[in-house]
Amino acid sequence: MNQRTNAIALPTTALVTGASRGLGAALGRALARRGTRVVLVARGEDELARTVASIREAGGEAHALTADVADKRAVYPLAGAAADLVGPIELLVNNASELGPVPLRLLFDTEYEELERVLAVNVLGPFRLSKAVGGAMALRRSGTILNLSSDAAVNAYARWGAYSASKAALDQLGRVLAVELAEHNVRVLSVDPGEMNTAMHRDALPDADPSSLLDPAVVAERIVALLGRDDLPLGARVELGGEGAA
Ligand SMILES: NC(=O)c1ccc[n+]([C@@H]2O[C@H](COP(=O)([O-])OP(=O)(O)OC[C@H]3O[C@@H](n4cnc5c(N)ncnc54)[C@H](OP(=O)(O)O)[C@@H]3O)[C@@H](O)[C@H]2O)c1
Repeated sequence: MNQRTNAIALPTTALVTGASRGLGAALGRALARRGTRVVLVARGEDELARTVASIREAGGEAHALTADVADKRAVYPLAGAAADLVGPIELLVNNASELGPVPLRLLFDTEYEELERVLAVNVLGPFRLSKAVGGAMALRRSGTILNLSSDAAVNAYARWGAYSASKAALDQLGRVLAVELAEHNVRVLSVDPGEMNTAMHRDALPDADPSSLLDPAVVAERIVALLGRDDLPLGARVELGGEGAA
């Protein structure tokens, strides 16, 4: 394995979308355990409140903001409210995501509005939130935007069309943003977490053997390790699912 450096300090503040369960919740926990003040976002108030309460019980600082990242009018107020709670956001994690209609279906069986919704959640929401949070990062000349990708962004799987197209678009958005923000010292990274034992995976592939899937807590630790690395190329896309990854 290549020698890796861990020269970048972990963020003191983070805004994580899609954080009431699954990977987002696990990442919120992992960051809060290390002293990061986290703001967690999801639509469902009760599940989000339970996640925040569990982080606080473990001694971490966590806050809940309920919002739909696809709601155009909610995004700038969300960024403002997050900064009011914990101070300037040093890490934005665009993790909230939608599969589209399940059972997964062929593109020709996918309605225009269904694709539109997937793009709104998985691409346009992260785009707007990156602008809302990243502008202040650029002014401070410091920060990281991390987008959650998927192997579906780079492979063509039948019935995964809407999700797949959205993740490919998110990756490319991130690559361009990485180039544009480099001179402002803001990092943009893309992470393919690998197949995880979460609600989203169960919705997509209900017959999968859970024991063959990654625990999101393990992936969250890999992301934390990744955040500390200063040897990643500009706009890096990192696959965390493989053995020995990150
Ligand atoms: N699981 C896998 O095997 C896998 C593989 C590759 C990539 N990924 C990616 O990894 C990320 C995490 O996935 P996961 O499996 O942890 O998902 P998950 O368990 O289904 O959790 C999704 C989270 O996002 C929230 N959410 C969904 N839509 C939202 C919206 N419009 N606005 C705000 N919050 C929203 C959900 O809460 P509410 O429903 O209450 O809003 C929930 O907290 C996603 O980007 C996914 O595409 C997952």
